[in-house]
Amino acid sequence: MKETTRILIPQDKVEERIQQLADEISRDYEGKVVHLVGILKGSVFFVCELAKRLTIPVTMDFMSVSSYGSGTKSSGIVKLIKDLDEPLEGREVIVVEDIIDSGRTLSYLLKNLSNRRPASIRLCTLLDKPDRRECEVDVDYQGFQIPDEFVIGYGLDYDQRYRNLPYIGVLALSEE
Ligand code: IMP
Ligand code: MG
Repeated sequence: MKETTRILIPQDKVEERIQQLADEISRDYEGKVVHLVGILKGSVFFVCELAKRLTIPVTMDFMSVSSYGSGTKSSGIVKLIKDLDEPLEGREVIVVEDIIDSGRTLSYLLKNLSNRRPASIRLCTLLDKPDRRECEVDVDYQGFQIPDEFVIGYGLDYDQRYRNLPYIGVLALSEE
């Protein structure tokens, strides 16, 4: 299989949008400490770029779940691989994701995290593929809505590669 990539959202547009989201969050959480929960590994690049631009106090924690195998299709099973290091009780939590596709991962996660009694919990995603939704999720902060294409870069992988691309690309696989 030959893999080719095409730029869907260039780096400057991604970073411009992250700045806008950071401004919005800084305004919304003025006077509070926001606790960013990054979902490994896809959201790492996004959560760091977002955190750097927030003007309010920030704490961060990470967890890892898996809903995909090594390909481009969901297995439909969400597995908790690494839990958070710290409790969420009383915290102003923002869950930061790379992309919402079927919504299965997030609907599982938001239920799980809400049970830990945070003061509040919101969701921030860099990308959203609304056409693919199977489970409803309320998105509070969203970078871009994208069409139903498999994307890579800015943290998103195909078989663990391409996370380091500084833009959002579309992956095309062709026989060769
Ligand atoms: P969901 O549970 O179907 O919403 O899947 C969400 C997770 O699947 C994301 O956190 C990604 O890790 C992965 N994913 C979904 N769509 C893509 C894509 O287009 N490229 C890379 N990873 C994706
Ligand atoms: Mg992910």
